[in-house]
Amino acid sequence: MVRSDYSWIYPSQSDNKADDVGTTAYRRLYHGIRSAILDGRLHPGERLPASRDLAKSLGISRNTVVTSFDLLTSEGYLETRVGAGSFVASTLPDRDMQTGDHSSCKKSQTANDRPIRLSQSATRMLTYQRRFARFRVARPFTPATPDLDAFPFDLWARLLRRSWRAPDIDLTIPDDPLGLPLLRSEIAKWLRQSRGVNCTADQVMIVSGAQQALDLAARALVDPGDIIATEDPGYEGIRGVLAASGAVVQPITVDEDGLDIDGLAQTPSPARIVVTTPSRNYPLGTTLSLARRLALLQWAQDNDAWIVEDDYDSEYRYDGPPLSSLQGLDTDNRVIYVGTFSRVLFPGIRLGYLVLPPALVPAFRGIRGFADGVPAPTTQAALGTFFAEGHFGSHVRKMRLRYGERRSHLKNLITVDASDILSVMPSDGGLHLCARLIGDQDDIKCRKPWSRRTLIVVHCLHISTIPGQKVGRNPCAVLCLVSPDGKKMCFRKVSVNWSEPSDVSLDVPRARESGTTSL
Ligand SMILES: Cc1ncc(COP(=O)(O)O)c(C=O)c1O
Repeated sequence: MVRSDYSWIYPSQSDNKADDVGTTAYRRLYHGIRSAILDGRLHPGERLPASRDLAKSLGISRNTVVTSFDLLTSEGYLETRVGAGSFVASTLPDRDMQTGDHSSCKKSQTANDRPIRLSQSATRMLTYQRRFARFRVARPFTPATPDLDAFPFDLWARLLRRSWRAPDIDLTIPDDPLGLPLLRSEIAKWLRQSRGVNCTADQVMIVSGAQQALDLAARALVDPGDIIATEDPGYEGIRGVLAASGAVVQPITVDEDGLDIDGLAQTPSPARIVVTTPSRNYPLGTTLSLARRLALLQWAQDNDAWIVEDDYDSEYRYDGPPLSSLQGLDTDNRVIYVGTFSRVLFPGIRLGYLVLPPALVPAFRGIRGFADGVPAPTTQAALGTFFAEGHFGSHVRKMRLRYGERRSHLKNLITVDASDILSVMPSDGGLHLCARLIGDQDDIKCRKPWSRRTLIVVHCLHISTIPGQKVGRNPCAVLCLVSPDGKKMCFRKVSVNWSEPSDVSLDVPRARESGTTSL
């Protein structure tokens, strides 16, 4: 028997959750009939009205009905019997039919509520994610953020357009997980000239940033239980990636000469990888001394370990030319050099690179092939041309001057305005400045009034690997900062960045005003 009213079978646009705005009429009818079959409102074997009648009663075209019926028939929900019309199939394709209530909303709700058992690797990684937040605060002196107003986006757009205008096979069907040859050779040239990196383009792999570089290194070289040594303080953004590998992430202290190499000898077993920022520790800004560089290379050789040199913003050294890389000193092919364009250009470019010891290239290439292939080739092509036409070099030179001026200005302001409460730590470059809070300033208490009244963001450096631990070398510098989400974390510095023009003034509330107490 055919029912007289079928209006319920044709959901209105807003009722139809399965397809959103813009759903064509046939799709809506298809979903209506399908749901009715699945939740039992239409029974197996039940006859549907003739397409002409249904179209008329729903006020839609017959074509729409025929197209929906065709689709439902080809998916097995309907059967056509010659001369008799369309029927709900007696055997239905969807296994959910057997379970009674089949409303698609209920189904997805149940699926959403089901507890998910994540892998140990994901659980470890997510633990770190909670502590790490990228800075997107639109304020001056926000750490790790370049001055985006100074980037030549018009030129960048032209280069991107140019890549698309006559894309060759490398752009449309890329097949080398190392990345685009043009960009790799430009990076190799730049690194040889400006950083003393010992490499050819064949050792360069383009990645989506330093984090991916670290992820690949951990996948390639680390087994669960191995030790990865990292700097403490150091960049929290990489820790989740390292911990996900199942390795034990072992923090090693950084002092005014950089990573404490003696600390490497104290780990329960020799670290398999040491991740270090020899040019400039993030966030303290200290440089690894020559004696320690040589000791680190020797340690790696003695312990058959790898060193990952994270050279995240070495382009910006203001007191002289960029320092030579650790990789350039390495004679035993132990250093994996990592660079990123996040700071020197802009974070959303999502491009960085690895310079691999030749023996590691085949393994990394193979692993990369199973990861994400390569970053978008057109962006790589645009960046390759940006280098080849000299724009990268001029951008770096322009920004080095600009940031250098801002840094001097900021240091002067601190000297004039705030030398009783802030003591700038020595550092020769980078995109931020670290200062100790002097005396009994409590960073938790001064953070809010400072952020309200001044252009300085007192922020949590989300750094220490060991929350809650106080660093004892300089008791008055051991401070607790709060993270942007208000969680208390252990750290002991205030960091300021200079991504704004230098017409800032420091109107820093004094301890008395901000109601701080001693630790
Ligand atoms: C020490 C360090 N390494 C790497 C990066 C950049 O990571 P990515 O290239 O994944 O953006 C940053 C960014 O702030 C950093 O501070």
